[in-house]
Amino acid sequence: TASLKERAADKGLFYGSAARNNPLSSDQTFIANFIQECGILVPEWDQKWTSLRPNISTFDFTYADRLAKFAKSHDMLLRGHTLVWHQNLPAWFQEEVNGSNVEQILQQHINTVVGRYAGKIHSWDVVNEAINVKDGRSDGLRQTPWLQLMGPDYLDFAFRAAAAADPKALLVYNEYGLDYDSRDDKAKRSAVLKLLEGLKSKGTPIHALGIQGHLNGAGNFLFNPRKFRSFLRDVASLGLKIIITELDVLDKDLPKNISKRDRIVAAAYEDYLSAALQEKAVIGVLTWGLSDRYTWLAEDNSSGERLSLPFSLRPLPLDVNGNRKLVWNAIARAFDQA
Ligand code: G3I
Repeated sequence: TASLKERAADKGLFYGSAARNNPLSSDQTFIANFIQECGILVPEWDQKWTSLRPNISTFDFTYADRLAKFAKSHDMLLRGHTLVWHQNLPAWFQEEVNGSNVEQILQQHINTVVGRYAGKIHSWDVVNEAINVKDGRSDGLRQTPWLQLMGPDYLDFAFRAAAAADPKALLVYNEYGLDYDSRDDKAKRSAVLKLLEGLKSKGTPIHALGIQGHLNGAGNFLFNPRKFRSFLRDVASLGLKIIITELDVLDKDLPKNISKRDRIVAAAYEDYLSAALQEKAVIGVLTWGLSDRYTWLAEDNSSGERLSLPFSLRPLPLDVNGNRKLVWNAIARAFDQA
């Protein structure tokens, strides 16, 4: 059976997943699944500030390099994630970065990190999750350390620095909460559109919107394909590409019955992707993990076992295809019908 990456490639798209160094260097079945199914890899952790930056004058690329090497050795595209975010700023950042050195620190971070992988990165999540309408600003910007230290132009600054460091990489603004016909998501979609229009009108070198796509199986009745597609059309009309960057479906509040849960989760994937892939500006899809065994959704282990991704966590050893799920079939169908 053709793998997800092959079905995507048949339509000129890509499919892949987030990955962490740990399973990708130890779990042989997971590695085989990943190689077979994924045409693109995004580091789930290893290019974030906490991982790269032990202190203000040091960079540690050990794990980021390992993932870059893994992608290259398996002919996978590589995404960069993420240069500017309000989460995972190391402790020293809060203590040592201030209004007078923040530009130099950010410039050095982007020059060093983007420069190191120049020519090897398909697309960088330059700025991640900069909008939070609840923070009350008219521009909808989230009250982050970057905004406090640099003002609203921190986005333009970051994109220009990234473009200078790697003219080949697609530069992406990445965001969540854009999916549903809910009050919050509607407000966030219009704030994101305004942000993108502003950046484009300033001549900011931004090429794509990353729509994370962290869906909720129990809330999927709120998905309105027509409204979602019209948002995608609005983004595309700004001359931007679109990547579905972190797709998964939270199944925590679904019925306990495993086969019922599997069906609801798979249907959520298929509804979402068949809508998204009708928009020609959408160039590819990544799920935020490949196997339930390693999903971030189980990190707060209070929520028990998750059934959110294309591969199951059934006990190993398995043959490489043995643990595919209905989610896998749903994604395959969405690509086949794109
Ligand atoms: O803190 C340890 C660190 O000391 C250790 O060196 C490292 C070794 O792997 O592990 C670290 O543990 C955790 C890390 O994931 C790696 O597993 C961190 O404590 C934990 O906070 C971190 O969580 C990640 C989270 O982003 C914060 O970075 C999740 O795995 C990851 O799935 C999640 O992903 C985010 C996207 O980046 C942005 N969009 C939302 C998405 C879900 O929150």
